[in-house]
Amino acid sequence: MATSRRRTPQPTPRRHAGRGVVKPTLHRRASAVDVVLPVLRVMVLSGPNLDRLGRREPSIYGTATLDDIHRRLETVAQEQGGIVDCRQSNHEGDLLDWIGHAADGAADGILINPGALTHTSYALYDAVRSALIPTIEVHLSNPCAREKFRRKSLVAPACLGKVAGFGATSYQLALLGLIDHLRTIAQSRPIVSGTR
Ligand code: DQA
Repeated sequence: MATSRRRTPQPTPRRHAGRGVVKPTLHRRASAVDVVLPVLRVMVLSGPNLDRLGRREPSIYGTATLDDIHRRLETVAQEQGGIVDCRQSNHEGDLLDWIGHAADGAADGILINPGALTHTSYALYDAVRSALIPTIEVHLSNPCAREKFRRKSLVAPACLGKVAGFGATSYQLALLGLIDHLRTIAQSRPIVSGTR
């Protein structure tokens, strides 16, 4: 009589672009408490006129102020094991300096709503591109569904991704996506106590 034995499920081989089938590696942790997940630091930058949120065209941008948005981000970040450093300026140079500061080690990733500079600033594109840390473009409105000049983002090609059109929630969604991305990167090189 034939007997059937249950097989332990095996991970399916994954295909990496251009590298054929890669045998999956099973990662064994010494013990749950040995793995230290780093606190992820996200710099949140908002550009021109975003200090006016709450009073500025509420039918487009909603009634939440930038302070409200920053407070919500602090809560979300804390829940996710991260911290946010939220800044706003009406001056392009400040945003460039802060991106450079983030790139020099002050942050692991950036959320940026460049306001109208999205559509005009090659300098911001250069800064984000050379920062070499994951950056997400954020908009409260959906610029692609508005005036023609808003349909082009000069910053987008330098970014990992974009969240737009969800009002104040765009910032939260972007933060969750960025933290998830940073966590995935961090888990591929965890700090295991005693090894560093
Ligand atoms: C915005 C969209 C931009 O086109 C506009 O200039 C802003 C706000 C947004 O969040 O929807 O200032 O970035």
